[in-house]
Amino acid sequence: MHTLRLNDYPIHIGSGQWPQLRALVEALDPSRLLVLCDAHTRIYCLPRLQEELEVPEHQVVTIPAGERHKTLDSCRYIWERMMQLKLDRRALMLNLGGGVVGDMGGLCACLFKRGLPFVQLPTSLLAQVDASVGGKLAIDFASVKNSIGLFANPEAVFIFPGFLATLPERELRSGFAEVIKHALLGDPGHWAELKGLNSLSGLDWPALLVRSLRVKQRIVEEDPREAGPRKLLNFGHTVGHALESAFLLSESPLTHGEAVAIGLVCECYLSHLKVGLSLEVVQEVAGLVRSLYPHRNISNHLLPQLLELMQNDKKNEGGEIRFSLLQAPGQGRYDLPCDRDEIADSLGFYNSHSLSLFS
Ligand SMILES: NC(=O)c1ccc[n+]([C@@H]2O[C@H](COP(=O)([O-])OP(=O)(O)OC[C@H]3O[C@@H](n4cnc5c(N)ncnc54)[C@H](O)[C@@H]3O)[C@@H](O)[C@H]2O)c1
Ligand SMILES: [Zn+2]
Repeated sequence: MHTLRLNDYPIHIGSGQWPQLRALVEALDPSRLLVLCDAHTRIYCLPRLQEELEVPEHQVVTIPAGERHKTLDSCRYIWERMMQLKLDRRALMLNLGGGVVGDMGGLCACLFKRGLPFVQLPTSLLAQVDASVGGKLAIDFASVKNSIGLFANPEAVFIFPGFLATLPERELRSGFAEVIKHALLGDPGHWAELKGLNSLSGLDWPALLVRSLRVKQRIVEEDPREAGPRKLLNFGHTVGHALESAFLLSESPLTHGEAVAIGLVCECYLSHLKVGLSLEVVQEVAGLVRSLYPHRNISNHLLPQLLELMQNDKKNEGGEIRFSLLQAPGQGRYDLPCDRDEIADSLGFYNSHSLSLFS
C-alpha cells in the first residue's frame, strides 16, 4: 500500500486501499453516489467495487466502451442521466474505467451544475499509470483528440492493481509504453530493471505502478499547466501520435501504446542525433520494444502524411517540428526541433532495427 500526493490530492495505490475509499465516501457524505463505467468495466470491475464499497444506495451510468465514444454525445447522455437522477452539487461521482471513462467522467462532473466532486478509479494500465493522474480532462471533438477539456483535480485517485487481471493483453502492453517512457524520463534505476524484459507476466504491479507514477507526479507537480517541463511527458508521442492517426483508418489500427512504443524508438534515435543519447541506450530501447510489441513496417509512402501530422502537433511553433528528447536516462530536454530528413532517418532506424532479430 502506498500513497503519493499530487498538488492537493492523494493517489492511493494498492489492493489494501478499499477502507480508505470507504472512509473518503463517508467523509464527503454525498447527497447521491454515481458510478460511471463503460460496458466492459460494468462487467469486470463494478461487482468488485459494489462488494467493497458497502454503500447500498448508488446509481450506475454506463457508456459504450472505446475511444470513439469519448464525445459530446456521450457527455450529453451522462448529463441527461445526472439530471434525471436530480443530482446536486453535493453528489459524488466515481469514474470506474480506463482513460475514456476517467477523462470524460471528470469533465462531466466538473461542468455539471458548475462542478461536483469526483474520484478516479482507473482500471486500465494506461489510466492507472498515466491518464488518471495530472488533472487533464477532455473529450474528442471535430475529429481532434482531447480538443475540448479543462484542468481540474479529483478528490482522490485510487489505483487497484487487481483490476488489471481482466484487462486484455493488448491493452496491458499498450499501457506499458507509458511505463517505459516514465522510466526513461525520470528513473534510470527502473529503466535498468525494465530493459531486459521479454514478457509482462509475473511483474510486481503495485511496486511498478508506484515507481512509474512518481515520475509523472514529479513532472506534473513542477509544471501542472504544461508551460515547460511537463512537455517532457510528450517523449515518444510526436512520432507516436502521428503513427496512431495515420493507421487509424487502416485495416489494422495501432493502439495508442503500440504507436508510442514505436515513437519511443524513433525519438531515442533522434535523441542520439540531436542531444547525444548513447547508441547503446537507443539499441536497448529498440530491443525492448521489439520483444514486447509486434513489428509494423512504416513504409516510405507514409512519410509525407506522418510529417504533415507532426507539423500540426500542438507543441510546434513557427513551422518547426519540436520534440521532447532524452540526453541520457533521467535527463530529458524539450522544445527541440528536428528536420524532415532526421525524422525520416529515425523511422528507417525503427524499420531496420525492429526486424533485425528475424532477418
Ligand atoms: N488525461 C490525461 O492526462 C490522459 C493521459 C493519457 C491518456 N489519456 C486518455 O486516455 C484514453 C485511453 O485510455 P485507455 O487506454 O484506458 O482507454 P479505454 O478507456 O478505452 O480502455 C481501453 C479498453 O479496456 C477496457 N477496460 C478498461 N479496464 C478494464 C478492465 N479492468 N478489465 C477489462 N477491460 C477493461 C475498456 O472498456 C476499453 O475497452 C484516451 O482517450 C487518452 O486520450 C488521458
Ligand atoms: Zn500516451
